[in-house]
Amino acid sequence: MLERKDILDLYSRRAGWYDISANAYYVIGFREWAYRHRAVRALRAQPGATIVELGCGTGLNFELIERVVGPAGRIIGVDFTDAMLVQARRRVEAHGWRNVSLVESDIARYEFPTGIAGVMSTFALTLVPECDTVIGHAVNALAAGGRVVVLDLKEPAWAPRWLVTSAAWLTRPFGVTADLARRRPWETISRLLTDFRLDDLYFGFAYVASGTVGERRDSVPNGPRVAAIHTTQGAHS
Ligand SMILES: C[S@@+](CC[C@H](N)C(=O)[O-])C[C@H]1O[C@@H](n2cnc3c(N)ncnc32)[C@H](O)[C@@H]1O
Repeated sequence: MLERKDILDLYSRRAGWYDISANAYYVIGFREWAYRHRAVRALRAQPGATIVELGCGTGLNFELIERVVGPAGRIIGVDFTDAMLVQARRRVEAHGWRNVSLVESDIARYEFPTGIAGVMSTFALTLVPECDTVIGHAVNALAAGGRVVVLDLKEPAWAPRWLVTSAAWLTRPFGVTADLARRRPWETISRLLTDFRLDDLYFGFAYVASGTVGERRDSVPNGPRVAAIHTTQGAHS
């Protein structure tokens, strides 16, 4: 398992070619964009909604989220790798989006604003040791009816060890190691949220997990990590 600083180094070095390399898995049938569309659909966001994206990287999901929330909505992208956020900012400027804020922060330390409608994370949350606590923070920040959506990789129960090891080797350039399988954020989503849904993708090597914040949230671990809306914590724009 890579340390936090190793992940930071890795993404600092890879930021420039992240978008191209992420697409490379199409050659083995990994339909990354179909999965991203699915995750954004699972947000069930309305025009005008504010969505927090954890581990937003270069902002590959922004266009999909923009299509749903529109100019009256807002996207807050959080990531701790400055070089990835540089790419994200380029994307935002190229599209002329004026409703995207980029926050340089460790996800585990991020103070969620209130007034958000959804929290999503794609291929990032499992890299965070405190991923379960983070989901608790997200639930605290969301109003009843708010959505949490995670798209990430996992180890399918049916897969033999050699296949799991091969899959980890293939995704190693992105910081994935086989022992990350111990992190199971979807279980926390199922425990803390209602309307839980887990959709297996790519033979169970990936999934979209989602849930809705209910009226009662007394089982949320480690208290709230919620700031006032318009937080400027490490804000990039
Ligand atoms: C595989 S990339 C995914 C980027 C983007 N979500 C996507 O789907 O293309 C993982 C991202 O998570 C970020 N990340 C990993 N651990 C993090 C942490 N503890 N806090 C903030 N960002 C983190 C990395 O910097 C990187 O940008």
